Amino acid sequence: KEAKLWGGRFEESVTDAVERFTESISYDKVLYKHDIMGSRAHASMLAEQGLISISEGDSIFQGLDEIERRIENGDFIWRTDREDVHMNIEAALTDMIGEPAKKLHTARSRNDQVLTDFRLWCRDAIDMLIKHIKHLQVSLVTLALRNEGVIVPGYTHLQRAQPVLLQHHLLAYVEQLERDAGRLLDCRARLNFCPLGACALAGTGLPIDRFMTSNALGFTAPLRNRMLICVRFMFIDAVSDRDFVLEFLSANSIIGIHLSRLGEEWVLWASEEFGFITPSDSVSTGSSIMPQKKNPDPMELVRGKSARVIGDLVTLLTLCKGLPHAYNRDLQEDKEPVFDSVKTISGMLEVSAEFALNITFNQRRIEKALPAGHLDATTLADYLVKKGIPFRTSHDIVGRSVALCVSKDCQLQDLSLDELRSISTVFDKDVYEFLGAENAIKKFCSYGSTGSACVASEVHYWVSKLEIN
Ligand code: ARG
Repeated sequence: KEAKLWGGRFEESVTDAVERFTESISYDKVLYKHDIMGSRAHASMLAEQGLISISEGDSIFQGLDEIERRIENGDFIWRTDREDVHMNIEAALTDMIGEPAKKLHTARSRNDQVLTDFRLWCRDAIDMLIKHIKHLQVSLVTLALRNEGVIVPGYTHLQRAQPVLLQHHLLAYVEQLERDAGRLLDCRARLNFCPLGACALAGTGLPIDRFMTSNALGFTAPLRNRMLICVRFMFIDAVSDRDFVLEFLSANSIIGIHLSRLGEEWVLWASEEFGFITPSDSVSTGSSIMPQKKNPDPMELVRGKSARVIGDLVTLLTLCKGLPHAYNRDLQEDKEPVFDSVKTISGMLEVSAEFALNITFNQRRIEKALPAGHLDATTLADYLVKKGIPFRTSHDIVGRSVALCVSKDCQLQDLSLDELRSISTVFDKDVYEFLGAENAIKKFCSYGSTGSACVASEVHYWVSKLEIN
């Protein structure tokens, strides 16, 4: 067995079971690019500070280049006995270039190294997710543009409430996604600080330059550089902190919940009972026994996969709860939930966008459904308010009008003027301009409402913001 990089004080090697149980290489190898990036920055700084010679630095750079090439060509052998990505790369570098490689870990611990890699990885993951979010927003706005003028029933409590323009409804999701992207950007700004140089927990007595490595890696600053108190404690934070991970997973969970709600709605709308949308065959699947079936599986899975994204967050919350400062090996368990969350959320965003572009709204079916449920009742109450009736009174008058409709099994617009006047003499023949979903929609005019002009300006805003042409 090869001696461990940390093996100096050990007389026995670890058992196979312990080796298998404690390894992280099987999943943390995806950090290789960021690990190599971090090592390059660290080696440049060591050379600049005279802690290694220029030629030692050069051979480290060449070795790292070669390792990166091998990994990318699939020619690199990842070894479980070398534990994790950091020691695999360092040991391979030593095999390749010998002595200079042994200086690379000067003034560095795996504790600050792993966090540097992880923060860099999360930063890239956030950039990727934001692109996916934008693509979904574009798809939703495109769907809205294809369905201008379509009115759908709006629901509260899943009971018919008021008519809304379909565009208005779809833009609600676009707004949510915008905040989702904002949360990721906030998280990105807060995590973009460099832990490198915190070493194990206390920093180092060697003359390193933390600002140089931080700059080289595109971080805003070394972690906690602005606080002047208690330097030791700051470093402890640098290697203990996982709140950037918690924040990232929280932001992903909120995205997951938004997408799950979208999924639920589209599944419902695709049902025979609603029949508002028909997803194309390209985004549907069938049944192994029932020949007639065409199921909206992708959106069911979007709803379903949100569960694991929330689970990933709960795993991390539970992992961190009760851990003393500073690094504890438990923290190695922070990576798989993040990798899983990012992979799951990006798939959910991608497939939701695909689904949005492959939906047809069944306008005839929707139009047939519109008259039911007294969607115009609130507009009728507003009509009475315009005639000077206090809102509470008009609410009551319309309530009694609806009760009459229920007893006659008809809609408000089917009531004769005499019937309406039997409830309130304030009703006049202009009342019919307020009845029916199409008429009701025309009456909305408040900022942000479902009125055509307001919705058109919202659509216009998103078309230009998202650069859709
Ligand atoms: N693989 C470890 C992790 O991901 C690296 C840090 C190990 N540090 C240590 N002192 N054992 O957490």
